[in-house]
Amino acid sequence: MEAHQEAIHFLCVTVTLLCPLLHFSSPSLASFIPTDNYLINCGSPTNASLYNRFFVPDASSKSVSFSADNSISLKSKTPPQDSPSPYDTARVFTSDGSYKLNIKRNGTHLVRFHFSPFESDNFKLASAKFGVLANGLLLLQDFSTQVVVLKEFIVKVDGDVIEIEFRPVGDKNFGFVNAIEVFSAPEDFIVDDGARVISGSGSIEEFRNLSSEILETILRINVGGSELTPFNDTLWRTWVPDDEFLVLKSAAKRVATTHPPNYQKGGASREIGPDNVYMTAQEMNRDNAMLGARFNITWDFPVGSHGNRHLVRLHFCDIVSPSLNQLYFNVFINDYSAYKDLDLSSITFHSLASPVYMDFVADSDDAGVVRVSVGPSELSGSLKVNAILNGVEIMKMVHLTVSETGEKNKKIWIVVGSVVGGFVLLCLVALAVLVLFKCRKKKPKPRPADSVGWTPLRAYGCSSHSKMSEGTVNASPGQNGYHRLKIPFTDLQTATNNFDKNLIIGSGGFGMVYKGVLRDNTKVAVKRGVPGSRQGLPEFQTEITVLSKIRHRHLVSLVGYCEEQSEMILVYEYMEKGPLKKHLYGPDRTPLSWKQRLEICIGAARGLHYLHTGSAEGIIHRDIKSTNILLDENYVSKVADFGLSRSGPCLDETHVSTGVKGSFGYLDPEYFRRQQLTDKSDVYSFGVVLFEVLCARTAVDPLLAREQVNLAEWAMQWQKKGMLEHIIDPQLIGKINLDSLKKFGETAEKCLADYGVDRPSMGDVLWNLEYALQLQESGSGLPREQREDSNTNPPALPTRTIVPQAPSSHVREKEVDGNASSDLRTSQVFSQLMTNEGR
Ligand SMILES: *[C@@H]1O[C@H](CO)[C@@H](O)[C@H](O)[C@H]1NC(C)=O
Ligand SMILES: *[C@@H]1O[C@H](CO)[C@@H](O)[C@H](O)[C@H]1NC(C)=O
Ligand SMILES: *[C@@H]1O[C@H](CO)[C@@H](O)[C@H](O)[C@H]1NC(C)=O
Ligand SMILES: *[C@@H]1O[C@H](CO)[C@@H](O)[C@H](O)[C@H]1NC(C)=O
Ligand SMILES: *[C@@H]1O[C@H](CO)[C@@H](O)[C@H](O)[C@H]1NC(C)=O
Repeated sequence: MEAHQEAIHFLCVTVTLLCPLLHFSSPSLASFIPTDNYLINCGSPTNASLYNRFFVPDASSKSVSFSADNSISLKSKTPPQDSPSPYDTARVFTSDGSYKLNIKRNGTHLVRFHFSPFESDNFKLASAKFGVLANGLLLLQDFSTQVVVLKEFIVKVDGDVIEIEFRPVGDKNFGFVNAIEVFSAPEDFIVDDGARVISGSGSIEEFRNLSSEILETILRINVGGSELTPFNDTLWRTWVPDDEFLVLKSAAKRVATTHPPNYQKGGASREIGPDNVYMTAQEMNRDNAMLGARFNITWDFPVGSHGNRHLVRLHFCDIVSPSLNQLYFNVFINDYSAYKDLDLSSITFHSLASPVYMDFVADSDDAGVVRVSVGPSELSGSLKVNAILNGVEIMKMVHLTVSETGEKNKKIWIVVGSVVGGFVLLCLVALAVLVLFKCRKKKPKPRPADSVGWTPLRAYGCSSHSKMSEGTVNASPGQNGYHRLKIPFTDLQTATNNFDKNLIIGSGGFGMVYKGVLRDNTKVAVKRGVPGSRQGLPEFQTEITVLSKIRHRHLVSLVGYCEEQSEMILVYEYMEKGPLKKHLYGPDRTPLSWKQRLEICIGAARGLHYLHTGSAEGIIHRDIKSTNILLDENYVSKVADFGLSRSGPCLDETHVSTGVKGSFGYLDPEYFRRQQLTDKSDVYSFGVVLFEVLCARTAVDPLLAREQVNLAEWAMQWQKKGMLEHIIDPQLIGKINLDSLKKFGETAEKCLADYGVDRPSMGDVLWNLEYALQLQESGSGLPREQREDSNTNPPALPTRTIVPQAPSSHVREKEVDGNASSDLRTSQVFSQLMTNEGR
């Protein structure tokens, strides 16, 4: 009773403290009509339409005054026949130019720029480079784009005019824009107070004067739903699905309702989020027995900048509860508590399915990621545990003051120049050389990977340039992410002491691997492609796209990449203790304990399980071996080299030539029969690693007696005889619990089954290894019968409350429905992902 009261008291305190988080905006049923509403078709004499909205010519509108000394109206070479699109024309600025728009109602406005870098006879818009300012504040700096992109800003206008300026970078460059939208935001779209600052301090701090910030939309996500286009949105926004951002896809389950949301005064309005956002959500996937009873759903949102402040707006609508006060959950941002014991019923004034939103201010981490998690609250008690999320918006707070002084400096220079001509001429020459040098260094290879921004438009399949972007959008799920990973070549030169031979820690088909230290003191492994190596640019880019999407404790992560001149460099986190192999056998090893070995195997199994089923679903490693499992300073294992897999035409080549030798003992026999790798091929290779770990010998040792050469065959003979303990690492004799060994041997044996269908999934392998670890730590105390029992029907582990299905039935089930599609997916991904030699 007392505890209960305390809980209620606690709840009240939390709710009161966090009350400012609730935003009040009145619901409106009619469609939103902005007071100020400019839709401008730049560089065109005619109207054009986009999503049924009419964009009017920039030169003819009464309330738009346009000034530019040297601006050009440009028309795309291949205009479509049917209805004209603003993307067929552009205004090009060869020097500074601006639009001035009269504002009827001051306050928050949405400002959008549409860029479609088409090519005409005189201009290649993809090579433009410029800055964009609104009322003197820099919105975009050194901007250039190779793909169709929409940039959205939320800007507070204080006076009765907004001036939008385009400033080419340097004298040789130019700027352009295809269409501009400026319209009044709904009342209270951004409210000044109430956003909570997320920090480690644990204190509750509010962010002040939020509406004065310039916000750039980075991501807008319809969680659990489908893509929403401007047709479906009250403010003509685009919302994208969340799947690619889920850290563990299998932790989340989509839910949807057919009932329109119950918009309430005091909650979110239809302009804050349209019906479709609130009618879908992700909830905890409680069918996933692997995860136990309590777990979080986590999304990693790549925001493209390190350590920047962001407004994180979360949208909620309880579409899962049958009645009020049935759902209590916690919200985390960047692993810090953002809202504890959230009860949507109480904050929506006791109505179900009522939309609300909450604003938080959070920084992106060093990797340029904002992490959002939801998980069950302790208050759930006997209630069904659950947690939901309906939508996420992430907007960057733009503070581009540094370059603004740069711009000012330039102006001052010119003024001084007219006075002290000679001297400044020299300066200008120097400046020109600098700019030229910079240009040459940075560009101009057209890089489809280079797409910036948050919602590349793909609805306009009519013109040639939009096709160009289409490939990018479809082929690069991480396209919002990997731009942040770029590292300048000079930084890598510094990091590796100009690729000092003494720092080489490995080599392979791709090139040399160097140890390096970045400027922020992060140790890294720098893999430098051999210029002219057969691993081409597209494969390199696909690797970055795929790898940048993967973040997991047990996978070696990509820190960055460099693509300049003829350099192709991948930068990975540095693994202090090197490959597992080194610790198993070899001259200077310190033998690992059985527990350590189990933990290492469990870690690697986790990493692989994630590759196969996590947010990067369907990736097959293809080269699991003890040299590709690396250990960090704490002996935490991570799977490496998962991106550089082989496939396609080079497969046969690798077969017969050198590549095969290194990994020979690990190769799935079924692969020879079917010529097709599946995730079960990884399971096979992992089985070999398990025996390697147990026996401390190489997978293939040609110097041994014939029947011993191949570890997999040899160990299986002993395993089948039930005498595995005869061939274990002498260092382990007397130190392994026999039940643990038995479980381990059975697991490895199953992995090495001849046919993929008979092998367990990585999830099952992981489970069995955890069980083997548990037996090692506590098994010896178990009574005999219980031990026998447990081999076929393991008891629940301490961290789980649900016993997973027996591995075999589990496997078959997955085989049946999962195989075809996963083959398809992986072959799609990996047809582009190949190296020719082994590593
Ligand atoms: C262009 O659109 C504006 C506003 O929708 C409309 O008033 C005007 O008549 C249109 N002009 C042409 C030529 O269609
Ligand atoms: C904004 O508008 C209000 C009323 O419309 C006016 O009183 C106020 O001075 C305006 N603010 C600025 C900075 O122009
Ligand atoms: C916030 O705005 C108020 C009034 O608009 C102003 O007095 C105050 O100085 C601002 N605070 C900050 C931190 O900018
Ligand atoms: C979005 O709008 C389009 C065009 O009006 C429509 O076909 C589609 O069904 C809508 N999608 C949703 C999810 O409402
Ligand atoms: C959810 O994530 C938070 C933050 O990382 C963590 O503190 C918490 O323990 C997690 N909860 C569960 C049930 O895993």
